[in-house]
Amino acid sequence: MEAKKRTTGQSAHLVKLNSVETDTKPRLMSGIKEWDRVVGDGIMPSSLIILTGDPGIGKSTLLLQITDKLAEHHVVYYFSTEESLQQVKQRAQRLNCTSDSLLFSDQANLESIINTAQDHKPDVVIIDSIQNCYVSNSQTIPGSVGQLRESAFHLMRLAKENGITVIVTGHITKEGTMAGPKTLEHMVDAVFYLQGEDRWQTRVLRSVKNRFGTINELGFFQMGEHGLEEVPNINQQLIAEVSYCPGSVLVSFIEGSKPILLELQALTIESKLAMAQRVVSGVDHKQVVLIAAILQKYLHIKLSAQDIFFKVSGGFKVKSSSTDLGIALALLSSYFQQPLPEKSIALGEISLTGQIKPINQIATFVREAEKFGIENILVAKNQQIEHSTCTIKHFTNVYELLALFEDN
Ligand SMILES: Nc1ncnc2c1ncn2[C@@H]1O[C@H](COP(=O)(O)OP(=O)(O)OP(=O)(O)O)[C@@H](O)[C@H]1O
Ligand SMILES: [Mg+2]
Repeated sequence: MEAKKRTTGQSAHLVKLNSVETDTKPRLMSGIKEWDRVVGDGIMPSSLIILTGDPGIGKSTLLLQITDKLAEHHVVYYFSTEESLQQVKQRAQRLNCTSDSLLFSDQANLESIINTAQDHKPDVVIIDSIQNCYVSNSQTIPGSVGQLRESAFHLMRLAKENGITVIVTGHITKEGTMAGPKTLEHMVDAVFYLQGEDRWQTRVLRSVKNRFGTINELGFFQMGEHGLEEVPNINQQLIAEVSYCPGSVLVSFIEGSKPILLELQALTIESKLAMAQRVVSGVDHKQVVLIAAILQKYLHIKLSAQDIFFKVSGGFKVKSSSTDLGIALALLSSYFQQPLPEKSIALGEISLTGQIKPINQIATFVREAEKFGIENILVAKNQQIEHSTCTIKHFTNVYELLALFEDN
């Protein structure tokens, strides 16, 4: 066989993994627990991470608070490519970020940032934001997707070759994706979204990609005059909001490692339209339509002639079949205009045949519910619950749910 022609480039140096020395640097802890937990028990040294979110959501605020803490034990360079140093100082004063060891620059030229970092080898480089950086002598246009990718490529090399942790912020588009290609998310080690909930100024930090930690972990903050404050127990706030009115049902789902307690709210009302409306937010539209169909089929109640409005408190988005039973009870409670027993939580799946099915991790949900004073647990007939002080109500099928509502 004819030998292949050699392409340019030197032959690669191969080593055994056993001979590779591992990076023994500890993870970078900020002491802000909600952040540290979401990033994977501290930031992995030498990684490139992106903090992204809607404009004005609080990315610069959070980053400044984190870096102020990191600067107590590490050398941190903060490049503000969007705001002047005066503006950053004003924010720092408002947030009480007074670290004397944090160093700032308003340099936005990427080569200059990289040269500075290579020369001085700080532990952490912050760039707020990557979209405002420009690469001189580049074939790509400043601010373009191409330039964004080029910047990410150079920053990744800076991180890996110099052992520098690089954290950048990035905007997201109206559609909720990182402005720029999804490929940017593939190029970096970790991606964190800062999202806003519609009330209480709550901000949720979510890990959507993490090469060195779990994903879908949530951290909760509250935006106040002095910046983002940690909310160590979001369930305390969520449970205080539950009304136990007709149409309201408490459910739980697991996000990351946390069980979240949430109120589902349904409103059913006789439709004046030929085709009844279904306006659903926070849960999957199809899940509500399906459960309404199951109730109509087995209970002979005419939900098809009712407009259905459905939402989840706190602006959360829930994707879990463990909320099936809660959705059914919220619909029935609104339809019959009767509330469920106070301090109750519904935890179960519903099959297409109308059977109530047990769910996984029930003990975690029950423990969390008990912590917040829940007294009644509504579950499937064959759901085993051990060591609970609550009253457990078992249901075999949707027909048995009618017993919760008088005169039906
Ligand atoms: N004096 C203040 N008191 C309370 N909250 C304030 C005050 N000033 C700013 N904020 C809050 O901080 C938010 C702006 O935060 P920040 O600039 O960190 O957001 P960002 O995500 O970095 O925005 P951008 O996408 O424009 O960079 C405002 O929307 C507001 O909620
Ligand atoms: Mg900003």
